[in-house]
Amino acid sequence: MKKINVNLSQNPYPVYIGSNIVDQLNKKIIKHCKGSSLFFVIDSRVNHYHGKLITKIIKEFPNKTGKFIFNSTEKNKSYESLNHIYEKLINGKYGRDTAIIAIGGGITGDIAGFAAATYMRGVEYVQVPTTLLADIDSSVGGKTGFNFGGIKNIIGAFHQPKFVLIDTSFLTTLDKNELICGLGEALKYSFIATEALAKFFNLKFKSLLQGEQSSIAKLIEESIEFKSAVVESDEKESGLRKILNLGHTFAHAIEAEQKNLIKHGQAVVAGIVCSIFLSQSLGILNPRKEKEFLNAVNLFKGSIKLKSPNADKIYRFMQTDKKNRSGDIKFVLIQDTGKILLDISAGKKLVLDSIKKGIEVFA
Ligand SMILES: NC(=O)c1ccc[n+]([C@@H]2O[C@H](COP(=O)([O-])OP(=O)(O)OC[C@H]3O[C@@H](n4cnc5c(N)ncnc54)[C@H](O)[C@@H]3O)[C@@H](O)[C@H]2O)c1
Repeated sequence: MKKINVNLSQNPYPVYIGSNIVDQLNKKIIKHCKGSSLFFVIDSRVNHYHGKLITKIIKEFPNKTGKFIFNSTEKNKSYESLNHIYEKLINGKYGRDTAIIAIGGGITGDIAGFAAATYMRGVEYVQVPTTLLADIDSSVGGKTGFNFGGIKNIIGAFHQPKFVLIDTSFLTTLDKNELICGLGEALKYSFIATEALAKFFNLKFKSLLQGEQSSIAKLIEESIEFKSAVVESDEKESGLRKILNLGHTFAHAIEAEQKNLIKHGQAVVAGIVCSIFLSQSLGILNPRKEKEFLNAVNLFKGSIKLKSPNADKIYRFMQTDKKNRSGDIKFVLIQDTGKILLDISAGKKLVLDSIKKGIEVFA
C-alpha cells in the first residue's frame, strides 16, 4: 500500500492507495479518528456491487454504526439529501465523536463531507473514493458542498478528511463513461503538472481507457502527489489552487447548455479545448505546444459527443453564471506545460470564437 501525505499545517492527513485494501478501513479509522461512532454515506451503485464487503466492514467495527445509502445524481446533491443525513444523525443520537465515512464518487464525497463540516459544528470524516474522478481529484483537498437553486456547488465548506483510502479495485465495476470522466480530469493534470505526467498520459492513454490496473494506479499516485502539493500551498483557493480550474469556466457553461446530458469530466475536456483556443488567440500559448495539447485532447474523440452545441448559448451561460457575481468572466489559461495564468479577462469575440472552435472538436 502506498502512502502520500497531504502536509497541511493545521490538518495534515495521509492518502492510502492500493488494490483490495478497503478491508483495512476499520484499522485505519481506529488509528486516525477519535470518533467512537461511525456514520456511513454510501453510493447506491457502489452498494449494489460491493455491498457485501462494505456490510462486513461495518459489522466488524466495534462501536455504534449507521448508514445512509444515496443515489448520487447532481439532482440529489441537494439540501433534501443532506436533510436525510442530518435527520438520521440526530434521530440516531450521534454525538460530536462521530466520524462520517463517504464511500462513493465525487457527489457522495462532497455531500458527506459537507454534512461532516456542519453537523455539531464539524465532525471527523473519511473519504473512500470509488470513481477515477474522485480518486484523482475530489477526495483530496477538503472541498465539500452541494447544489442549490440550480447552481452547482454554490453552498459548501472547506473541511479536510482525517484520511483518504483509495482502493483501485472499486474501479472494476465503473462504467466506461465514468472512467472517461476521470481521464478528463487527468488530462487537466497532464497539462498543468509536469512534462513527465503529460508523457505518461499520452503514452498510456489506451491502457488507461481499458482500465489497466498498473497504469491506473500510477496515474492516481502521480495525480495525488501533484494535487496535494497544490493544496498544501493554497488550502482555501486564494491563488495557486485556481490552476485546478483550467477549462472549468467553459465546462460549467457547456454542462448547462447540454442540459447536464454530458458528465462533468467530459465537459471539462471540452472546456479545456476552448481554453487552449482562447490562450492561442490571446497570444499566450506557446505555438509549439498548441499541437501537442490538441493531440492529447483528440485522444477523447469518439468518447465525448456534444448534442447540437450552440456557442452563443454557452457564452450566455458563462455571462449569467451566478457564481460570477462581479459580471466579469475570468479565465484560467495555459502558456506551456505547468505554466498556467490565472484571472485573465478576454473580449466577447475572442471568447465566442474559442467556444466555436472548441465545440467543433466534439460536435
Ligand atoms: N470536492 C472537489 O474538490 C471536487 C473536485 C472535482 C469534482 N467534484 C464533484 O464531483 C462530482 C463528480 O464526481 P464523480 O464523477 O465521481 O460522480 P458520481 O459521484 O456521480 O459518480 C459517478 C457515477 O458512478 C457510480 N459509481 C461510483 N463508484 C462506482 C463504482 N465503483 N462502480 C460502479 N459505479 C460507481 C455512481 O453511482 C454514479 O452513477 C461533481 O458533483 C463535482 O462537482 C468535486
